[in-house]
Amino acid sequence: MDAILVLCRLLHYASALFLFGIGAFQGWLAPQHLARSLDAALGRAVSVAAVIGLLSAVAWLFLASGEMGDGWSDVWSPATWYAVLTDTEFGHVWQIHLLLGAALVSFLVSGWGRHWRLVTVLGAVYLGSLGFIGHAVMLEGAAGRISRASHVVHLLAGGFWLGALVALTACLGKFGDNDLQSDISHALQRFSGLGHLAVAAVVATGFVNVALVLGHWPNDTSSPYQLLLLWKIGLVAVMVGLAVVNRYVLVPKLRDNDASLQALRLFTVVELALGVCVVALVSLFGNLPPK
Ligand code: HEM
Repeated sequence: MDAILVLCRLLHYASALFLFGIGAFQGWLAPQHLARSLDAALGRAVSVAAVIGLLSAVAWLFLASGEMGDGWSDVWSPATWYAVLTDTEFGHVWQIHLLLGAALVSFLVSGWGRHWRLVTVLGAVYLGSLGFIGHAVMLEGAAGRISRASHVVHLLAGGFWLGALVALTACLGKFGDNDLQSDISHALQRFSGLGHLAVAAVVATGFVNVALVLGHWPNDTSSPYQLLLLWKIGLVAVMVGLAVVNRYVLVPKLRDNDASLQALRLFTVVELALGVCVVALVSLFGNLPPK
């Protein structure tokens, strides 16, 4: 059951992060002409993310019922689902989370998904609500409030970073279209400004999370939690390195040579793939005891 829960957490985190970040790119970063040209592809991507998000949220509730109850028999027990939803802190958050997930699916599937700013606002609450479950709520009082706030900012900044990378990959595929080139350069500039902030926020809140959840630097590699956390920090360091090369080496040469465009495309995809690995790691160690 643990392995299925980890997969479920991965699908759920990834879909919520992408949904919010793609929405923010389309709603705020992409100039109108570019946003229209990406509408169909990114609209489909967020609709798929919303459906995966809702299915994995329901599966997460079932599996949490099994973990809190008596194993597989409680995974399929409506009475246990009801008890989890009404009697636990996770359940209270999950009621709102499931409603938001269902609203996003109906909104996107009915074609209203072109209202990107509304998708982003709903997506922000949907993603941010994940900061009120798990190890984020281990502490009470002021430390508990800081922990929840830090997890919410961590999720939103991480979502902005990863979702924008998906949209940028789609943008770079259109760089050959002369009509779109200046819009794409514009979007890259805007992403660069906010991207710096998002990366700084992810890293800063990541360290706050380490301090509050674990209480010290992860230096004991015999602890699976700490080992996986160290891997996560290492992968994020590589992602930051790639982001710096993309921004300061490749983007300035984009109009002058084709090799820079090819390299930028490749590095953006690699950065994105590493981002998915980072989310996979947290899906795994966030389910382990932090020690
Ligand atoms: C691309 C960058 C990153 C992404 C996409 C990311 C994503 C996530 C996600 C989805 C969660 C689970 C949500 C939650 O628990 O509220 C999380 C939790 C966490 N992250 Fe990150 N993260 C990133 C960078 C970092 C960095 C640089 C650090 C450490 C310096 C870090 C440390 C943590 C910790 C300690 C947790 C709490 C895990 C737990 O519940 O036990 N993260 N991150």
